[in-house]
This record gives sequence, structure tokens and C-alpha cells, in this order.
Amino acid sequence: MSQPLKITDTTFRDAHQSLLATRLKTEDMTPIAAGMDSVGFHSMEVWGGATFDVATRYLNEDPWERLRTFKALMPNTKLQMLLRGQSLVGYRAYPDDVVQSFIQRSSENGIDIFRVFDALNDEWNLSAAAEAVLNNNKHLQMTLCYSITEHGRLGGPIYNLEYFIEKAKLFKKLGAHSIAVKDMAGLLSPYDAYELIGALKSEISLPIQLHTHYTSGMASMTVLKAIEAGVDIVDTCLAPLSLRTSQPAIEPLLSTLSNHERNPNLDLEKILVLGAKLENRLSNYLDLLDTTKSAVIDPKVLRHQIPGGMFSNLISQLREAGAEDRLQDVMEEIPVTRQELGYPPLVTPMSQMIGSQAVSNILFGRYKMISNAITDYVIGKYGRPPAPIDEGVKEIVMSKVKGDVEQIKSRPADELEPEMESAKESISDITNNIDDILTYALYPTTGLSFLLAKHGLQKPSSDSIEKAVSSTNMVEEPGKDDTPINKSKKVKAFNVYLGDEIFYVEVDPITRKTKYQEIESYGSGTMTETTTDKDEVFMTAPINGIVIKHLAIEGEEVSSGQDILVLEAMKMENTLPSPITGIIKRLPEPIGAKVAKGTVLAVIDPKV
Ligand code: CO
Repeated sequence: MSQPLKITDTTFRDAHQSLLATRLKTEDMTPIAAGMDSVGFHSMEVWGGATFDVATRYLNEDPWERLRTFKALMPNTKLQMLLRGQSLVGYRAYPDDVVQSFIQRSSENGIDIFRVFDALNDEWNLSAAAEAVLNNNKHLQMTLCYSITEHGRLGGPIYNLEYFIEKAKLFKKLGAHSIAVKDMAGLLSPYDAYELIGALKSEISLPIQLHTHYTSGMASMTVLKAIEAGVDIVDTCLAPLSLRTSQPAIEPLLSTLSNHERNPNLDLEKILVLGAKLENRLSNYLDLLDTTKSAVIDPKVLRHQIPGGMFSNLISQLREAGAEDRLQDVMEEIPVTRQELGYPPLVTPMSQMIGSQAVSNILFGRYKMISNAITDYVIGKYGRPPAPIDEGVKEIVMSKVKGDVEQIKSRPADELEPEMESAKESISDITNNIDDILTYALYPTTGLSFLLAKHGLQKPSSDSIEKAVSSTNMVEEPGKDDTPINKSKKVKAFNVYLGDEIFYVEVDPITRKTKYQEIESYGSGTMTETTTDKDEVFMTAPINGIVIKHLAIEGEEVSSGQDILVLEAMKMENTLPSPITGIIKRLPEPIGAKVAKGTVLAVIDPKV
């Protein structure tokens, strides 16, 4: 006889990650946590994905504390997290010691089921995480990232049935307790799901779980066909955070299955009450919903293949760049960029990398600005792409790294030095708490800001960049300690926003001499805007971001094209080259400074 269908609820993780840019605060989830615990879900997905980054970057919340809170409130339900293989909950590959420590602490803080995936389905990036989950005696769920090529269906030269079956067999060998099919953009059509799930059920003797998104409008049908094919577990969420780019809702599924042999036997009345309670808490978040169109589904997703979380990111990136009108161009650029980069499935971090590269290609010209992540991917640091990378693109990237880097042809993490000890030392003045050390190891810049605030050493400044974007008449005041504007004792430099114009202003505190220069209009967009005065050239931020690193110092002679600064923008680190040959007079923005587009990052004297 058929087993009852099991349900994983995603309300506390993927649902608000997909619809509300992951901004749901713990305090708005705890009121229904005990109720959710009593429903009888197979598991609750509550952590991982973008929740870790967003909690420290924007919410000033400790993600570890959130996990412990959920564990205390939901002792009867297995807690599940989404883990990006060797990239954990970040956007780069971490060395094995960070992977082991993170998984150990996640286990000890309450995670029971680890859904482990790699954006490239490359087992090189999964093996260390899989081993760590098994060593902690937790459930290892390994993930097939579902993807398709242009023709839009299961099959074709890359993402065909054999591809997925072979991967699943490999994952079983790595110790998987179950296999998830992760369809992050709602690309899995109902009959393809029937075929794929049926094949996995007959070839792989492990529980099979389906995770899909509503984006294209097919998800309810896809889930139903997967149930008919014998899927063991499906992911749903409560109605208020369902549909659109999120998961299908649980309520209609329960009604559908109420007289069916696979009836999950969950209490619909109870779930309706929980949904109503959640709805009340969401009123503060409704402006985060993408309401630019009246349609709640995007039938074009079968062509552009943009996952939900990535779509909301793209919109906010373009908004930050003042270029929302370029959305259509970016959507058309994405499949082209993806093909050139070897058809990676569009899932984190590949989705952000491809998305940001497509945005850069449109705003600044094709491959004029290449993020460090894309450079690393082309070199091989992210593992093996499903198809070869375009030779022309490879050439551009390899010329950028100037021949002192070679292509990697083995497990990328084998190349990485351990990092836990140095992370521990770096913040020993702030804390010796292991969870804090991991926060710092994963996010050295935004994590550090968060930890300084957490330990009372700095005011929280998480949303200042968002304020900088919305403010049209902002003047930075000299002498204010909480603005990270230059610490030079000599000349003070400011970016002054008047309407949509930006002025760079310098004041000499001794002579009281002031000079200013208009930099640009806010809406324009070119790569590393420069303005020539009689005796100096400004390198400005091409987009809002955070200064991560100076690669040159004041007084240093630099040549045109030499890397002088790393700017984190669109969640990617971008190395900015000097626009001219000259001497660096000033680097007005210190490490960690949040800068708006147009901010002067370097003043260079062209006389050499
Ligand atoms: Co998802």
C-alpha cells in the first residue's frame, strides 16, 4: 500500500527568501513556531540559503541565535537547512576546516537534515560537506539541481534523464540518505517530473523529495504528477508566502489529497489558523513584494530560467544602479551569458554570479567589468561546468589575470589553505565564541560589522546603504564618527548629493580651502567613471557597494589597468583597475566603507 505523502514546510526559509528578499525577522516567525511544530510536518526548512547572510547584513540578527530559538520552539519537528556544498551559506568555496566546523556547529545548534547542493552538481564540491554531515550523524540529503537548456524540456545534450540518474547514483555512493530534486526556477514541467521522479524511484532505492517553485505557474501540477510517480516528500509553504516565485501552497494540496491513498493526514483547520496569524505579521513586509506586474506567474520563465530569489535580487540591483528600465535587456542577456559560461544551473551562487555578470554586461559593456567570482569560476575554482566555457570569454578572463594563474584541474578545495585559525586570531579582541568566528570566517566584511555591533563596539549600520540610495539630498557631515568617510587628518573629502547630481568636495581643515567638482548625474552608468581636473583624475564607484580591499596605497605609482581597489557590489567582489597611469594621491574611502554609485574611490595624479 502507498505511504502517506510527507511534507517539508519552507515558510521560514525559502518562502520569504523568494518573495521578501529573505527579510522576515525572527520575531515575526516565532509567534507561529509552536503551532507549526504541532502540525506533523516531515521537516521544517528554517535556515541556510540566504538567511545567514541577510540576518547579519541587513537585520542585525544573529543567525545562530535564530536557529537556537527555532530549536527551542520546535522540539518535535526535524529542522532542515539548505547548504551550498563547499560554499556553505556563502558565495565562495571555503576550505575543508571551515566546512567541517560550520556543519558541526549547525548540527549542535539544531539542524537535523542537511540538504546539500552544488550549483554545478559537481561532486568535488559536495564530498567534504557530505562527509561532515555523516560524521555528525545527521540526515544527508543530496541534491540534483534541476536545469534545462534552451529547448525547455528534460532531455537534450546536457540535462537529460541519464545525467540526473548518474548524478543520483554518485550521490548515493557519497552516503546520501535521500535525494532531492531542486527545481529552483519552476522549470520542471508536470510530465517531465513524472518521468524523472519515476526513473529515480526505480533506479535509486532512496527516499526522493521534490522542491519546486511556482514561478512559471506549473508547480501545483508538477507536484501532483510527482505524487503520482511515487515521490516520497514534497516542499510546500503556508498560503500567505506561497505561489509567485515561492513554493506551492500546502492548503490546496491537502484538499486535493483528502480522499487519496497518499493523504498526508495533516490538520487543514489548524494550518488555516496558522496562515491567518502569519498574514497578520506580514503587513510590514508587503512593500518588498514585487508588484511591478499584475501577473503572479511569469510564463516567460521557461526561456529566461531565473530563480525566484535571483529575480528579486536583480530588481533591487537595478534599482540601486538607477537602471530599472534595463530589466528587459538584462533578462535577454542572461541566457547568452549563461551559454558562454558553460550552462551552469541558475542556482546560488551561480545565479547571482551569472545575474550580476549579465547586469554588468548591460550597464558597462560586455565583460568590461568581470566580478572576481566569475574570474574564479572560469579558472576552475568553482568546479567543472556542465559544458565547455566559450573560448573568447575564457581568453578575456585569462588576460585579466595576466597569466600568473593557471586553470585548476582537480578538487578546488584541495588548493585552499585552512582558515579557521586565522579567523579566530583576527577577531580575538572581539570574541572567542566559535559561532561568531564562523560568522566572521564566512563574511569577513559584513560579518565583522555585525559582530562589532553585537559586542557593543560599533553602532549597527546595516541598512545605511539602502538609505543612501533613497536619499536625494544627503550631505555627509564632517566630524560625525559613525560615517565611515575618510580618516585622513589632512584633507576631508565628501560626496554631496543634490537632486540627481553628485559633487565631490574636499575641505582642508587647516587652510579652510574648499574645492568641489561635479562628478556625474545619478542615473548614468558607465564603468569606472572618471573626471579629469587640471591635475587629477577621479576613479568613482560604478555602482553602490562596500570597499573590501585597497590593492595600492597613497603615494604609490600605478599603471593604467593596474588593480587598485576591490568593491563588493551586487554581492560580488569586483576588482577596479586604475583608469590611468599616475600616482595615487588619495584613497578617500576606508576599508568597510559603504559607498553609493559615483563616490570617489581614488584620486590619481596623472603626472608621472
Ligand atoms: Co528553492
